[in-house]
Amino acid sequence: MENEQNSNKDLEGKIALVTGGTKGIGKAIADRLAEAGAKVIITARNHPGEIALKHHFFAADLSKPADVAALVNEISEHFGRVDILVNNMGANTFPGGGFSTLTDEHWDQALQINLLSSVRLDRALLPKMLEQKSGVIIHISSTSGLLPIWESTMAYSAAKAALNGYSKTLSSEVAPQGVRVVTVSPGLNKTDAMATFLADLAKSAGITVEQMTRSLMERIGGVPMGRMADPIETAELVYFLVSPKASYITGANYIIDGGNLPVV
Ligand SMILES: NC(=O)c1ccc[n+]([C@@H]2O[C@H](COP(=O)([O-])OP(=O)(O)OC[C@H]3O[C@@H](n4cnc5c(N)ncnc54)[C@H](OP(=O)(O)O)[C@@H]3O)[C@@H](O)[C@H]2O)c1
Repeated sequence: MENEQNSNKDLEGKIALVTGGTKGIGKAIADRLAEAGAKVIITARNHPGEIALKHHFFAADLSKPADVAALVNEISEHFGRVDILVNNMGANTFPGGGFSTLTDEHWDQALQINLLSSVRLDRALLPKMLEQKSGVIIHISSTSGLLPIWESTMAYSAAKAALNGYSKTLSSEVAPQGVRVVTVSPGLNKTDAMATFLADLAKSAGITVEQMTRSLMERIGGVPMGRMADPIETAELVYFLVSPKASYITGANYIIDGGNLPVV
């Protein structure tokens, strides 16, 4: 079944941009879309070594408007368009401890990284999609946008919640012109960013990373499946959502969290 599905080349001829495509969830998405036949462009601040041989790599810090503009120029020069835009890049690299630890600078960074980078990229790449009357935009959000933890995700959760609202409004605006916009909200995924997040929390709490992992799962209300996701599992959902199989899906927020969010 797995091989049958993965041999499907239904993204052949499509050009996909995956931001933050060198590590974690972004890398898994880039690989999955390429497997389905898409030509994949990835971005990150640091050169990813061998991965760059597999996909088309552009170095960019997308929290900076000038780097977004440079990326868009490169794309229009070398590819002419993007059919699938996966705004994956995002981060929670802000100090925990609640409102008093977060400065204006932290808030600005949280919004630049988790919201405005996507807003700017969408604004630059959408006109071509609207012109060709097709295209898919994915916003990788987080369950933190729906289930904030004041001690450790205040600015990040607020920025992801804003991303959810922006994504929904954009989907309504462009749906009549043939462009789909979908949000994906992953729960805990085993990535470098998650490892660093857990290590920092464990250090400040004076416990081991394993204890911190259990404590975090309890703090968010439990993960019924009892484990974090492999980024490949999240990538599989994104692949489905950008594929022609999802042609009637837009404006939704897909939660993929092992059963964590305690809502129906
Ligand atoms: N991991 C989780 O449990 C989890 C849960 C929910 C949501 N998410 C969301 O999923 C997305 C990916 O997270 P991840 O855990 O896979 O992260 P990750 O492992 O840290 O990878 C992040 C990627 O983004 C790049 N990046 C970081 N800052 C950047 C910037 N300013 N400009 C351009 N590229 C940048 C990184 O490369 P460089 O460092 O070289 O730039 C890397 O390619 C994020 O939006 C995150 O909020 C993750």
